Amino acid sequence: MTDFPERLGQVAAKIDRILAGLLPETGRAEKRLFDAMRYAALGPGKRLRPFLVAASADLFDVEEHSALRCGAAVELVHCYSLVHDDLPAMDDDDIRRGRPTVHAAWDEATAILTGDALLTLAFEVLAADETHPSPAVRMRLVSGLAAAAGAEGMCGGQMLDMLAERTTFELGEIARLERMKTGALIAFCCRAGAILGGASAEAERALTAYAQDLGFAFQIADDLIDVDGSEEDAGKRLRKDAAQGKATVVSLLGIESARARARMLSEQASAHLECFGAGADLLRDAARFSVERSN
Ligand code: IPE
Ligand code: IPE
Ligand code: MG
Ligand code: MG
Ligand code: MG
Repeated sequence: MTDFPERLGQVAAKIDRILAGLLPETGRAEKRLFDAMRYAALGPGKRLRPFLVAASADLFDVEEHSALRCGAAVELVHCYSLVHDDLPAMDDDDIRRGRPTVHAAWDEATAILTGDALLTLAFEVLAADETHPSPAVRMRLVSGLAAAAGAEGMCGGQMLDMLAERTTFELGEIARLERMKTGALIAFCCRAGAILGGASAEAERALTAYAQDLGFAFQIADDLIDVDGSEEDAGKRLRKDAAQGKATVVSLLGIESARARARMLSEQASAHLECFGAGADLLRDAARFSVERSN
């Protein structure tokens, strides 16, 4: 056993500090945008994605500062995706991370701009010299994150997710949707650790395979929480997917079978890590946590 909860908490605290430094308070006329960006990015998230970057980078002795900057960039993209996911045009949610959503606390235009600005800041962070001395490494990070967040990844998955409210998707199509909307960004986290560390192609493939299975399992767990979780633990409104008529792995397979599928995927994820031996135990714990969590 590792001390996974403590390690996750340590990465979260460091990421909070980096994000706060990237988003200083300002007295300028556009203060409203900066305030909303700080609110969205500094909210109490689990910071699992930065943790995955850091734990993967640790396998290759990457400088902590590089891994944390890269983790912060992914978290900025994730926070943007939540702000837009909560908009009335999408899931129409008023609570996120236990607090009013950005459009509820400000307004829709501010929430759209907040998401846009968090997304673009992520690429500014990755491209900066401070993130890694090698421009070639930074270029791979930038293009990897762009692909994971864009139409072939998260945005494409979010489009399918919207369509899933009125189209009858089969299990394979739902699996593709969930791997795109959530799995792609999570897969990038672990790939980023390999890219930062100049890992072998084999090690990068193993980490990517691990994270793809984990990302899918993580989204099934989110869908399970939506059906049988507690709003207080989750910090967001639940029972939304069924209310919106959204097809998910849970709606197609039922709760027990979906839970078994998530656990199988989590074990399968860890099986990809064999080549790293005990050095990857924190990642194995992250895979377990991803499916057993209540938030
Ligand atoms: C929620 O992500 C949205 C999904 C992709 C399932 P998280 O469960 O990681 O949310 P935070 O960052 O901890 O709030
Ligand atoms: C969100 O999925 C996925 C992204 C933000 C890309 P959900 O819509 O299920 O996430 P929650 O349940 O609102 O956190
Ligand atoms: Mg959604
Ligand atoms: Mg949502
Ligand atoms: Mg959900």
